[in-house]
Amino acid sequence: MSTNSVTAQTEEVIQPDPSRTYNLTSYEKKRQTFSWDEAVKGLGAASSGKWNAAYECIDRHVEEGFAEKTALLFTDGEKEESYTFGEVKTITDSYARVLKSGGVAKGSRVFIFLPKSPDCYFTILAAIKAGAIAGPLFEAFKEDAVRERMEDCEAEFLITDSELGKRVPEKDIPSLRKTWEITSLREEACGFADEEDPTVWLGEEDGMLIHYTSGSTGKPKGVLHVQRAISHQYISGKWVLDVHEDDVYWCTSHPGWVTGSVYGVFAPWLNRATVVIHGGRFDADEWYSLIERFKVTIWYSAPTAFRMLMSKGNLFENYNLSSLRHILSVGEPLNPEVIHWAGQNFGVRIHDTWWMTETGAHLIVNLPSEAVKPGSMGRPLPGIEVAILDETGEPLPAGETGELAVKAPWPGLMKTIWKNEQKFRSYFTEDSWYLSGDTAYRDEDGYIFFSGRNDDLINTAGERVGPFEVESRLIEHPAVAEAGVIGKPDPVRGEIIKAFITLREGFTDSSNLRESVRFFVREGLSAHAAPREIEVVEELPKTKISGKILRRVLKAGELSKYKEASQV
Ligand code: WTA
Repeated sequence: MSTNSVTAQTEEVIQPDPSRTYNLTSYEKKRQTFSWDEAVKGLGAASSGKWNAAYECIDRHVEEGFAEKTALLFTDGEKEESYTFGEVKTITDSYARVLKSGGVAKGSRVFIFLPKSPDCYFTILAAIKAGAIAGPLFEAFKEDAVRERMEDCEAEFLITDSELGKRVPEKDIPSLRKTWEITSLREEACGFADEEDPTVWLGEEDGMLIHYTSGSTGKPKGVLHVQRAISHQYISGKWVLDVHEDDVYWCTSHPGWVTGSVYGVFAPWLNRATVVIHGGRFDADEWYSLIERFKVTIWYSAPTAFRMLMSKGNLFENYNLSSLRHILSVGEPLNPEVIHWAGQNFGVRIHDTWWMTETGAHLIVNLPSEAVKPGSMGRPLPGIEVAILDETGEPLPAGETGELAVKAPWPGLMKTIWKNEQKFRSYFTEDSWYLSGDTAYRDEDGYIFFSGRNDDLINTAGERVGPFEVESRLIEHPAVAEAGVIGKPDPVRGEIIKAFITLREGFTDSSNLRESVRFFVREGLSAHAAPREIEVVEELPKTKISGKILRRVLKAGELSKYKEASQV
């Protein structure tokens, strides 16, 4: 179990601002009366059985008279771009026509490997408009990470650019039928303006999005989401993001991660927000200046990013951040200090949200109209039932820690794990509880407090990393004989990746060697998966019978060192 847990040290409660209006004010009542049909009714064509997420995000708003409203604001620190809903419709229509003429059809897997940019968003929507399943890839992935995902998914089409395209080993992906470089897609699209509507109407169980996510064992798995998820994305966007007509909304995540697609693209656009994209990496000055320049009102990010901003002291005083009215967080435990920091410096609370790639949308939330208990992830979204289960699957009373489980189904829930129905089924108990793998407890008021994981999955800076993936890469390095990988507690990143390795004959430990091993993982998988710490050991702890490396022994050793250090 991980120690980056947050427990309520105090009974502190922070009340909402009574002077504001919220999209949902009657949490308790809504929990009693809500049915998911209500969420579907808020959509357009989907409410009469014609499903297409791209239509609901963009075209519907144009039809309803909002063609001139700003849909997108982009900056990478140098250039700035702005697009209306009308323009986004024209672009996504013409891209969808090109894709269809190239063979994309209902159910095709179209991978998108682009930096955070307007075209990354447009191509995701265009693929979906054409009836395909969009597979967005994180821009920092290197060759092995890209190959594994595209191979497993039998990717048929790829949209990329000249830089990232170099990391796609096309010859290893025989299913790949066609690759578009974004500049040629744009050129081709000019010839496809103003023709017939390219929207392919789908059913609610038809595929829309696939995200690969890491587990504690094995390679990353393809989590398939289907059209019905948009009703869940829409209602959580309305209530939890609390999007109002004049909001400028910024989610800092890349669409290669589920937060960046569901709450970067879909939920805000289903609610007709003006969406902001920041191209490039984290930069405290650029982030603050973006909030000032675009007058961001709703900001969705992660604890590591907030902690990195906190470490910059009063840098924020150089900027006018008074536009911010609602801040949200996801992906890792949100410590009370961070909430206090936001309250003191921006005059607003941070609202934690809990969900997973597999769950497709928010499940446990802090609504802006409700009291926040710092240290708690919040309470279940109306329509969602959660329980804390003991080892035999029985629900536990308030105050006791067990596995966090959710009653299935709900609209955002994944349809399956790609080509691995058995894995999909393994998430559920016989009584239809979805098992999250997270441990938590609940207080008497129904607030849920995160405790840790019940497996070896690593959460570094809010990103899931499977130890097996990193170990597999490590042992490909010529110097490495065996490897065991764990998450080590870290005050900024929650956890960092630490690798314990034994060396092959003829190699000796040195800082150069460790650096070369680290670089090797970084170049194969991605920077976030590369161990920040490597320790060379004589021997790794193993089970007596099967000889499996005992990560929990490595972890326990590391935790006791951490505890000693924090007591000094
Ligand atoms: C963790 C991200 C504590 C958790 C949307 C979960 C959190 C995993 C929180 C899913 C939170 C997510 N507090 N931990 N508010 N939100 N997690 O699939 O361990 O990338 O199982 O989805 O992140 O990560 P994933």
